[in-house]
Amino acid sequence: MSSYPSDRVRPLLDVAELLAREAGALVREGRRRHVGVAATKSSAQDVVTAMDLASEALLRRRLAELRPDDAILGEEEAFRPGTSGITWVVDPIDGTVNYLYGLPSYAVSVAAVVGPDPVAAPEPATWTALAGCVFSPEDGRSYTAARGLGARLDGRELRVSAARPLIDSLVGTGFGYVATRRRAQGRIVAELLPQVRDIRRAGCASLDLCAVAAGGLDLYYERGLQPWDLAAGALVAQEAGAQVTGLRGQAAQEAMTVAGPPGSVERLRDLLESLGADSDA
Ligand code: IPD
Repeated sequence: MSSYPSDRVRPLLDVAELLAREAGALVREGRRRHVGVAATKSSAQDVVTAMDLASEALLRRRLAELRPDDAILGEEEAFRPGTSGITWVVDPIDGTVNYLYGLPSYAVSVAAVVGPDPVAAPEPATWTALAGCVFSPEDGRSYTAARGLGARLDGRELRVSAARPLIDSLVGTGFGYVATRRRAQGRIVAELLPQVRDIRRAGCASLDLCAVAAGGLDLYYERGLQPWDLAAGALVAQEAGAQVTGLRGQAAQEAMTVAGPPGSVERLRDLLESLGADSDA
């Protein structure tokens, strides 16, 4: 990472926050009008609104203006290759179901990452995240992080909560949209519930990861996260001192993401491994 010192990372953070705020303003304004389902994805419950599409179009247009040589990996459109080695990983609305129902827990997530292959779409298990912003339009909160420079909420430095026993831990999680996966996830959460302080399912993975950074959750785990759900929030959590990992020695990725303070995260990880939480069986 020596080729990405702070003077190269800081401008990426500025772009991430600027664009997350611009897209956030668009989607918040768009919510005043009627928000309807424009399409569905992995199941009939996995919805896309017209504002998901408009927000991603804005992010892509602005990135093309500000960072024309960089690649873009977004939730709603195809991977756009670049030439610089940097990829912007964007979620135009994370928490679309909350957005559709008028609930406040949704965000725009924008991150810059570098992968091992400068031309292929990067993957969470092997990329290095450089900078990111998770912007929460309803309360105007901006969670930012840059590699080696810490994590901040509206400029205030973030630190994860202290490690504590599982039984005293508030644990966030989320569920996929496909019935077979949900059935398996339901079994896992039923095993966990008697062993933790409580469970939260807020419906926005990027804000869940930021909540770990800000001490609003002690721990978080989820199976099925896509690159755009993970990119900026995982960097915010890591830069706040959290460990963000997968199971069985793997990095955080779609199979499983576990986040929390070192000393706590291992207990949850071991339990999830013993329960086979990285399988839909
Ligand atoms: C979803 C949210 C949700 C998580 C799902 C994600 P989307 O993102 O982050 O909390 O449980 O796994 O797909 O679809 O609203 O962008």
